[in-house]
Amino acid sequence: MVPKRIEAMVMDAGRHPVTLGTDALRALDHDVKQAEASTLFVLGDENTLRQALPELLAHVPALRDAETIGVAAGEASKSLGVCQEIWQHLTVRAADREALLINLGGGVVTDLGGFVAGAYKRGIRCMHVPTTLMGMVDAAIGGKTGIDLGGVKNLVGVFHDPLGVYVHGPFLRSLGKRELLNGVAEMIKHGLVRDADHYESLREAPLHDLDALSPLVQRSAAIKAEVVKADPRESGLRKLLNFGHTIGHGIEAYSWEGGQRALLHGEAVALGMIAEAWLSWRQGALPRAACDRIADHLLSLYKPYALQGDEHHRVIELMRNDKKNSGGQFRFTLLTGIGSARTDAVVTAAQVQEALEYYRLLVRG
Ligand SMILES: NC(=O)c1ccc[n+]([C@@H]2O[C@H](COP(=O)([O-])OP(=O)(O)OC[C@H]3O[C@@H](n4cnc5c(N)ncnc54)[C@H](O)[C@@H]3O)[C@@H](O)[C@H]2O)c1
Ligand SMILES: [Zn+2]
Repeated sequence: MVPKRIEAMVMDAGRHPVTLGTDALRALDHDVKQAEASTLFVLGDENTLRQALPELLAHVPALRDAETIGVAAGEASKSLGVCQEIWQHLTVRAADREALLINLGGGVVTDLGGFVAGAYKRGIRCMHVPTTLMGMVDAAIGGKTGIDLGGVKNLVGVFHDPLGVYVHGPFLRSLGKRELLNGVAEMIKHGLVRDADHYESLREAPLHDLDALSPLVQRSAAIKAEVVKADPRESGLRKLLNFGHTIGHGIEAYSWEGGQRALLHGEAVALGMIAEAWLSWRQGALPRAACDRIADHLLSLYKPYALQGDEHHRVIELMRNDKKNSGGQFRFTLLTGIGSARTDAVVTAAQVQEALEYYRLLVRG
């Protein structure tokens, strides 16, 4: 019998492929068999094991005898304690260097599982099956793994590339609207720094319609793959992807201190993109009309986050702790137009303060 051809699109992210399309899970089945692993494990969190595992097993017979490992949902699972539990589990099950770990979940599971795989017996193979939009267009691609320590996000980690990333769009059906918009923020960023047409398509698309979203997910995954391929270890071009993240990380950390509602990463990045688009204009790189257009768009999608003027200092303090900022100055990725950006723009704390003030007045109406 002639085997049916697998209809899947394969992108090259440099050190690993990203497979998308209706047959992505058939490709996964094929690749799992090819890997000839000594033992198979599927790592997921409580939601992905409930929502996505049955569909995964229905499409990937090669995983039917895999052992599942479950962790609690949420960022708290990116911890050394959880890693230790998984490493112990692998040891009890006699996982050797030929074992294969399939990470089924959002960025928490792929960051955690990638790190667990990267360190166990000096590195075993893993594959990522992202189940959130954030995972499909960003977290699962590029080989960065890590866990949080002492309240600092991603403090401990390694680069450990998966054998492959398999994007199966229908997993998004069970994802809530807030989580969907969380991933959309990264997609908007991809358009803003790299592809004006993609940005315009995102503005027009009915984002709740997964069929309409599907080609846009592919485009965003392709942008992430292309940037990572050109700069696998974040020494240059990959910094483009930091747009919105310098202020965004400060806001995200601030929101977790508990004074106000906690923001999801993408929500903080959306706010960061509004402030950083303004900084791009302030530095003479972006026309004012483009800055206003971006702000209107993002405010139509993400609820305003009201900061008082005296809270700005704390946000700036938290930005200084970010490992990407050195010395007294901040280095930003700023837009030079819709669809293009430059990295390493020097911005002072006073300018950040002005940008936060701009956002504050904007949402105060
Ligand atoms: N390595 C990287 O390059 C990179 C890039 C971006 C983000 N990240 C990391 O990713 C993490 C955030 O990822 P995330 O936003 O995917 O969060 P997440 O993994 O916590 O998932 C969000 C929530 O959705 C649930 N969920 C996942 N898939 C589901 C599905 N199909 N249906 C229903 N519920 C589902 C999860 O259980 C969780 O409750 C952060 O820790 C961040 O640091 C890493
Ligand atoms: Zn991000």
